[in-house]
Amino acid sequence: MSKKAWSGRFSAKSAPLMERFNASIEFDQKLYPYDIQGSLAHALQLQKMGVLTKTEYKKIEVGLKRILKEFEKGTFPIRIQDEDIHMAIEARLHKIIGPTAGKLHTGRSRNDQVATATKLYVKDHAQILLKNLTKLIKAFVKLADQYQDVILPGYTHLQRAQPVLFAHHLLAYVEMFKRDHSRLSDNLKRLNECPLGSGALAGSTLKLDRKLTAKVLGFSTPTHNSLDSVSDRDFVLDCLYACSVISLHLSRLSEELVLWSSQEFQFIILPNDFCTGSSMMPQKVNPDAPELIRGKTGRVMGNLISLLVTLKGLPLAYNKDMQEDKEPLFDTVETLELCLEVLNQMMPKVKPNAQNMQNATKHGFLLATDVADYLTEKNIPFRKAHEIVGKLVQHCLKHNKTLEDLTLKEYQQHHKAFEKDLLPRLSLKKSVNDRNTYGGTAIKQVKKQILKNKKL
Ligand code: ARG
Repeated sequence: MSKKAWSGRFSAKSAPLMERFNASIEFDQKLYPYDIQGSLAHALQLQKMGVLTKTEYKKIEVGLKRILKEFEKGTFPIRIQDEDIHMAIEARLHKIIGPTAGKLHTGRSRNDQVATATKLYVKDHAQILLKNLTKLIKAFVKLADQYQDVILPGYTHLQRAQPVLFAHHLLAYVEMFKRDHSRLSDNLKRLNECPLGSGALAGSTLKLDRKLTAKVLGFSTPTHNSLDSVSDRDFVLDCLYACSVISLHLSRLSEELVLWSSQEFQFIILPNDFCTGSSMMPQKVNPDAPELIRGKTGRVMGNLISLLVTLKGLPLAYNKDMQEDKEPLFDTVETLELCLEVLNQMMPKVKPNAQNMQNATKHGFLLATDVADYLTEKNIPFRKAHEIVGKLVQHCLKHNKTLEDLTLKEYQQHHKAFEKDLLPRLSLKKSVNDRNTYGGTAIKQVKKQILKNKKL
């Protein structure tokens, strides 16, 4: 069994239970490409400083690259006794190149090492998420473009409210996803500082060129305070928060997909290849994909809360509690990458049922606001108009009619201001197109937004 790198001070070996409890290698092995990237940059500066000869540097470089290949091929030996990915890679390097490997940790601590690797992981995966989000935005804009004249009831309180374009509804999600994209991009700007060279907590006695390593690793600057550098996990929190909001948006979308594909609504048909059947009821087609996306949101939000609570009582600087940041981070990022991938494949195949949407607009007095607005044009104060139309709706309910069914005479019995020019107002299309304020549901506005979003 290999000796621990820190065993010099110890008079007893770790209890096997402690070894198992302490180890993070089973999950933090995901950091291998970033740890290797960090080590290569660190080795380079050690060589520039003269701590490593050119030959030693070359040896280390070749060894690390071989280790990278081992990970990619799945042959890297994962052993609990190596504790974490950082120790495991160093131990393996030792096995491959011999004692020169021992020089790699000069002027470095696992504390700045792990902060650097984790930042690189977040940077990389944020890019993947951003790409997936952009793809989803494009899919939604395409759907909106495709179904420009489909009208459905818009809801508030899940009660039919006013008619809106299906495209307008889709574009509402586009706005959410654009904010999600910008939120995640903002985080990237903030995390663009490299912690490597901060040592365990206080910096280093060596003349490390932190600007060089920051640059080599693609950061814009080194971090500015060594204590903060190794204590900071804000960048993980930022990522988990941004991911939670994305998840929340995907969950609201999923809820609508589930609702709209139900027998009660029948507004959309989900593609068969993203639904599943029942083991007992032969007729069933269940919307499992959106249900799972909605369900996984709980996990993603839980991960954010979990890390917030982990960090809240920690004194400066590094504490082992911080090892608990990895699983929530990896779980969130991987979960969300998968959810976005599923939606990217499924959404283009979702088919709206325009007829059923149209039918749903017939009941629920969706034009009530239009009738009230009509009265205000006849100089009746809106509050009064509201009351008159409320009474009209009661009248309709009593006689089992819709607002469109009523005769002009019935309207006039409720108020003399109603005239013939009311009748063309009782059209869904007109109702939609009259809402021509910027960002409204009128086709003119929606077309404008489609065009704008196509250019993104
Ligand atoms: N596995 C540890 C983590 O992820 C690495 C840092 C450990 N540092 C230490 N001084 N024990 O947090």
